[in-house]
Amino acid sequence: MLLAAAGPSILHGDGSESHRLVGVWWLLLGLAVVVVIVVVGLVVVALVRRPGPSSLGDDWWIAAGGVALPVVVLLVVAVATVDATAHLRIRKPDELRVEVVGRRWWWDVRYPGTGVVTANEIHVPVGRPLDIGLDSDNVTHSFWLPDLAGKVDLIPGQHNDLRFTVRQAGVYQGLCAEYCGLEHAKMHFLLVAESPARFETWLAGQRAGALDATGRTVFEQSACAGCHTVRGTEAVGTKGPDLTHLASRQTLAGDTVDNTAAELRAWITDPQSLKRGALMPAVPLSRAQLDAIVAYLRGLR
Ligand code: CUA
Repeated sequence: MLLAAAGPSILHGDGSESHRLVGVWWLLLGLAVVVVIVVVGLVVVALVRRPGPSSLGDDWWIAAGGVALPVVVLLVVAVATVDATAHLRIRKPDELRVEVVGRRWWWDVRYPGTGVVTANEIHVPVGRPLDIGLDSDNVTHSFWLPDLAGKVDLIPGQHNDLRFTVRQAGVYQGLCAEYCGLEHAKMHFLLVAESPARFETWLAGQRAGALDATGRTVFEQSACAGCHTVRGTEAVGTKGPDLTHLASRQTLAGDTVDNTAAELRAWITDPQSLKRGALMPAVPLSRAQLDAIVAYLRGLR
């Protein structure tokens, strides 16, 4: 994975929203540091100066340090905060809509009007405003991309929108920031921000149905097809992630493990050992059936 070595941080400011919030964060830190320096400085002066009457009376200190200074500091903070907040999540023309549904414990991702359905990996073009629609059909989750924007909850029965623009190409790690049950900690996802041309290529590839490949029949006739869709085949289940282009994704099981043949095989063989409580059961398969299904899924680019 191409993730930054330091991991996600709210201070990277790679999204329009986080960029604005980082500005406010540094302003708050700067003001706090100045206030601490002034207060500590006065304490030190009070400790070392010789006793005697001060040229400035008590009333002056209360008026200046107790009223005037806090009013100025809080006014600056208020103006900066209100101004930053007013510029967040505004609807923009030419937005790219992405519908995300929080499931247990993975992310269902759809691109309205294109038929593209994927999971746990959101591709977007850099520089284009995004409207990420957030819903849940179970419990409350929270969608959080620390590098790009603030958290927004996915609440059953209420549609929320998160709007921001990615400023910098890259692979960003996202997570669920609201405790939602057993595998809350393994409800991660990736946001892949790429050039508009590369995004269009990706979208076109995802739009196509699955390639025909050996193992398809085994998959269609197994219990797998009851929960998963592979577009263009008889597998039309909707309980689990759409697998039409599974092999094109970087990770498996909600960004729990890398998407390799060995991990895929381990995941199918015993999902509970990797993600206890996951709604995917272990399906009894012969060795030959497992080989065929792994080979089939590895071919779904
Ligand atoms: Cu979903 Cu925590």
